[in-house]
Amino acid sequence: MSDSQQAREHWSSNLGFILAAAGSAVGLGNIWKFPYITGQNGGGAFVLVYLACIAVIGLPVMLCELAMGRRTQKNPVGAFKKLTPASSTLAHLIGGLVVLTGFCLLPFQQYGWGVMMVLLGGAIFRYSWVVVGAMGVLAGFTILSFYSVVAGWTIGYIWKAVTGQLNFSTVEVAASHFGHFITNPGWAIGCHAIFMLLCMVIVYKGVQSGIEYWSKILMPVLFLLLVALIIRGVTLPGAMAGVEFYLKPDFSKINTNSVLQALGHAFFTLSLGMGAITTYGSYVDRKQNLFLASLSIAGLDTLIALMAGLAIFPAVFAQGFQPNAGPGLVFQVLPTVFNQIPLGSLWAAIFFFLLLVAALTSGISLLEVITAYFIDEKQWSRARATIVFGIVIFLLGCLSAVSVAGWENIEWLHRLLVAVFGSVKGSFFDVMDNLSSNWMLPLGGLFISLFVGWIWGTKNAMAEIRHGSANFADVHLFSLLAGLKDDQAYNAEFHVLTLASLWGVFIRFISPFAVLIAFFYTVGWLKLS
Ligand code: PHE
Repeated sequence: MSDSQQAREHWSSNLGFILAAAGSAVGLGNIWKFPYITGQNGGGAFVLVYLACIAVIGLPVMLCELAMGRRTQKNPVGAFKKLTPASSTLAHLIGGLVVLTGFCLLPFQQYGWGVMMVLLGGAIFRYSWVVVGAMGVLAGFTILSFYSVVAGWTIGYIWKAVTGQLNFSTVEVAASHFGHFITNPGWAIGCHAIFMLLCMVIVYKGVQSGIEYWSKILMPVLFLLLVALIIRGVTLPGAMAGVEFYLKPDFSKINTNSVLQALGHAFFTLSLGMGAITTYGSYVDRKQNLFLASLSIAGLDTLIALMAGLAIFPAVFAQGFQPNAGPGLVFQVLPTVFNQIPLGSLWAAIFFFLLLVAALTSGISLLEVITAYFIDEKQWSRARATIVFGIVIFLLGCLSAVSVAGWENIEWLHRLLVAVFGSVKGSFFDVMDNLSSNWMLPLGGLFISLFVGWIWGTKNAMAEIRHGSANFADVHLFSLLAGLKDDQAYNAEFHVLTLASLWGVFIRFISPFAVLIAFFYTVGWLKLS
């Protein structure tokens, strides 16, 4: 009997679900990416903008994904299939427009893009909103393939820390070491293989004894390790300069680009826009309060990101380094910092282990989206889905892993991409990263909010959200803030300013609009100051 014929597995407890979903959200995005983009965007003020994006866009969209998942008890494709009406004018309109854009590109000899858009538009026309779910499953492949490569680097660095090889005297030495390491195919592919294997084993074990069990262990470990690192960081002499950079906002350092970067990162860091949260929502039962769950997940994710910054910036400043080193911040600057403090190798090992733990709980959520799709829709067994797609993603990731060294080894792929798209920016690794972070996730987020706001309907979604959250959504916001939620005197009258109405307005207007602007900007169709 295949898994799909058995009752769908559910999280065994509310805490287990929240830790697993927070585990998906907390990852390389928080500990590797958030500090380095904060460093590049001037510190404190950027942090505030990021927090606003999480609250205004991230939270409402997360609630949509959870509601869709729990309502349908399905993977993203299944969820859209179940909720999409027989015919949707909006989907036909969008599909038609995409086909038209594709045809318009052909006379400009943009054959690759043209044909791709015609096919995509045709699919949207034919399959309507289900394409959004399919794009999510596809994003699972793209993201996990390069995510696993970076996670593999952390495995390599744990080994180096334990064997005492991270003894760099200057950042230059550390940078050249890092460069050699990631361009060595044996190391890069070997470590990537180990990471994929770990993901496969956990996902293979299933929802309760795999994902939930390990998240419950790994998330608290992560938290404790971070606390230890923060204490070490802020007690270094000269650390206060870092704390100030990080926590004191200077709005003169913020521009449009920083705002949009913060918005894009809000999606990535909360695992939104590709159905990971939908899938996890499908394992939630109706007794749980989705409002509180999304608050806790986003809250934990934000807390860990803020803590990661607090662990990193004081240490960077204490050693007299600049915070704007870019993506190498974690791999190049930190080992040098650790090398100058007592028990440096131990701290380095702890730090990279932490990064691995965070990456692992996110990696399994990416693989779970694909696995759930094949179990639900294609009646595969869990074992078969995990093994087959773990291997497929491993192979795809190998291309990313070796591409960092240059295109020489995979010249055929370069030629193919150039033939189809005209030009290629960066390595294959960059292509995968760019494709998912700048295209798939924002578009996914946009269409999820449009779908819930206008097609499935906020009314239906709210009916689902109300299960397990009693009148939480219907209390006047001021009574809620005042702690008078359960006071009948305050709840008896008809209320307009409720969480439910606020959420509806955000989902129908504010999130789609903000994401559309951000999307046009990131792909270069819109220039702002
Ligand atoms: N949220 C994860 C991180 O911050 C990445 C991720 C994106 C995971 C999308 C799942 C889906 O690292």
